[in-house]
Amino acid sequence: MATPSSTYLLKRDQIEAIRLGSRHLLWQLHLKHLLHPEIPTTDGMVIADIGAGTGLWALEVANQFPSLRVTAFDIAGTHFPSPEFWPSNAKFALLNSLQDVPSELVGQFDVIHLRMWAFVVRGDDPSPLIQNAAKMLKPGGYLQWEDARFESSIVKGDSAALLRQMMSQMGNAAKINFQWLEELDQRVNRADANLEVVDFQKKLWLPQNIPLCMNTFLIALENSGAILDKLKQVDPSVPSTKEWMDALETLQKDSCKPEGSQLYWPPVTLLARKNT
Ligand SMILES: C[S@@+](CC[C@H](N)C(=O)[O-])C[C@H]1O[C@@H](n2cnc3c(N)ncnc32)[C@H](O)[C@@H]1O
Repeated sequence: MATPSSTYLLKRDQIEAIRLGSRHLLWQLHLKHLLHPEIPTTDGMVIADIGAGTGLWALEVANQFPSLRVTAFDIAGTHFPSPEFWPSNAKFALLNSLQDVPSELVGQFDVIHLRMWAFVVRGDDPSPLIQNAAKMLKPGGYLQWEDARFESSIVKGDSAALLRQMMSQMGNAAKINFQWLEELDQRVNRADANLEVVDFQKKLWLPQNIPLCMNTFLIALENSGAILDKLKQVDPSVPSTKEWMDALETLQKDSCKPEGSQLYWPPVTLLARKNT
């Protein structure tokens, strides 16, 4: 039987790589910065992006700040670009950020960036991730985090409501709970990681950016259909692949109509500083 912790919900294929690129654009349209404006940038700063996926954020940081050095870490290298495409101040490396931090990475970074960990954290407990990120920071370093408040998803129309209900069944089987994202500031402050939150925002998308959020989300939901058979072994109430794909197709059609169905997540952003 599959154990929930062994199941990353998304296939790492080319459509997923393109989805991550589009979602990077969504975040940039929303934030209009790569590095939080409160982070002072100095020559030679060292930055890590954890769970970087395609590493587009890290590549953009490397280009925008040529005097900084950036490493994009991920548990899987599937989406890493070939080294010929890396700027000279960027590199990619494998790292499981939910296991003990290797000693050579402890206290090495001025900034740690986390984005879209909602579906990776299990059991409503982000503290191992927060503690590991904090261990990698130098004293006075910054943790910059952007994520999704799936618990507060906007659900409009019957087809969206059905899919939201199916998502909950999947989430239960995968031991995923999104409550921690609603109170990310408190979770970071309470994680016993020597971090203090300096900025926490639940600013909503501009209306013009909502379709991009929804489209990238619906593609992720389609992608996650590949894991349903495994999750069904954990919990038989999980929808079948056919039920899931049918519900998704109906929602996709409904969402294209004027005043049609909507299913998307609002963003959350946080900046914390490690105590000196
Ligand atoms: C939803 S993607 C987000 C990618 C990127 N941060 C972005 O915003 O485009 C989540 C990423 O976390 C990675 N991941 C999952 N478990 C991980 C772990 N234990 N340690 C490091 N990375 C992990 C996945 O391989 C995937 O690339």
